[in-house]
Amino acid sequence: MTALRDLYPMPDIDKHWHVPNEFEAVFDWRFDEGRTTLMHLYQKGKDMQWDALNRIDWQLDLDPEDPMQMPDEAVPIFGSSVWDKMNRQEKAEMRRHGQAWNISQFLQGEQAALLAASKIVQSVPDLDAKFYAATQVMDEARHVEAYKKLLGKFGVAYPMTDPLQELVNDALSDSRWDVTYLAMQVVIEGLALAAFGTIRDLAQNPLAKQVNAYVMEDEARHVAFGRLSLRDYYPELTQKERDEREEFLVEACYLMRDRMTQSSVVYEQLGLPVKECVDFTEQSEIVKLYRTMLFQRIVPIVKDIGLWGDKIQKCYEDMGVLHYAELDPQLLMDEDERIAKEIEAAAEGIDPTKARRDYIHAVAKQGAAGHAE
Ligand SMILES: [Fe+2]
Ligand SMILES: [Fe+2]
Repeated sequence: MTALRDLYPMPDIDKHWHVPNEFEAVFDWRFDEGRTTLMHLYQKGKDMQWDALNRIDWQLDLDPEDPMQMPDEAVPIFGSSVWDKMNRQEKAEMRRHGQAWNISQFLQGEQAALLAASKIVQSVPDLDAKFYAATQVMDEARHVEAYKKLLGKFGVAYPMTDPLQELVNDALSDSRWDVTYLAMQVVIEGLALAAFGTIRDLAQNPLAKQVNAYVMEDEARHVAFGRLSLRDYYPELTQKERDEREEFLVEACYLMRDRMTQSSVVYEQLGLPVKECVDFTEQSEIVKLYRTMLFQRIVPIVKDIGLWGDKIQKCYEDMGVLHYAELDPQLLMDEDERIAKEIEAAAEGIDPTKARRDYIHAVAKQGAAGHAE
C-alpha cells in the first residue's frame, strides 16, 4: 500500500511533527495492590484486546459513490444551493473527500492518543494507572492500524487539522500529568466516542460500521480510565488548582466545538466557493445538532470528576449541552460494548471467504518472513 502521506491532496506536508516536552518520569516504589476500580479496568483491557487483521474482514469494500454509505444529511453542505447544483459525480467526490477528512481526523487523533497514553505511563504517579495506560498504548496502536487500513481504501487522506493539533500539543507538552488526561482522555476521546458513534449507528457500509464499533468498545474504557483517575485526584488539589483545570477545559471545549465541522480545506480541494459553504454550515440546524451531540460523552465525565464550577457550567449552558450532565457514563460504556458484540455476531454469521483466509495467511507469512530477516 502507498503511504497515506502520498494521499494528502496538498503537497509539502511535513514527514514528522516534533513536540518538545518537559515532564518527570515517575517510579512507584510502593507496589501496592492498586485500586480495585483501576485493576478491574486493567484486567478488562487485557481480556478485550483484539486483532484488526483477524476480527475485521478487510476484503470488504467501500461504496464508490458513498464510501461509508452515510445518509446525505450528514454532508455538512446538504441542502445548500452549492450541493443542489452538483451532478452525481460531484456529489460522489464530495462524499468521498468529506468522509475521508473525518476518518483522517480519527486516524490523526488515534496517533495522538498513542503518544499521550505512553506519556501517561511515564508521568502518572500510581502503578495501577501505569498498568492500565500500558494496555491503552497497545489499544491505540491497533486503532491507528485499523483506521490507516480503512483510510487507504478512500484513496485520499487529510493531515491533522490545526485546532486538534493545538490541543494535542497541550496534552503532550504540559508538565502536569493530569492535564494530559484532561485534554486526551476527557476532551479528545470523549468527542471521538460521540463522533465514532454517529458512523457506527448511521453508516450502512459493513466495513465502516465494524471498524468504528470495535474501536468504540476500547475507547469507552479509555474514557472510563480518565474518569476513575481524575475523580480520585481532583479532590486533593487546592481550589486555585482546580480553577486552572476548569479554565483549561472551557478553552478546550470551545476550541473543539469549532473544529468539529468539516474544515474548509475540503471545499478548497474540491474547488467549491469556500465562504458560501462555510456560511451555510454555520447556519445549518443539522450541523448545530451534530456539534451539540458531540459533547454528550464529555459533559457527564466533567461533572463526575468534580470540575463542576460556575465557569464550566456556564460554558456548557452557552453551548446548549448542559443537559448531558444527567447521563450515566457507565451505562453508555456498557451500551458501546453491547453494540460492538452485536455487530460482531452479525459479521460472524458470514463465513470468511477464501479470499479473506488467503489474505490473512499471506500477511502472517509476510510477518514471519520479516522476522527472519
Ligand atoms: Fe483509540
Ligand atoms: Fe483511546
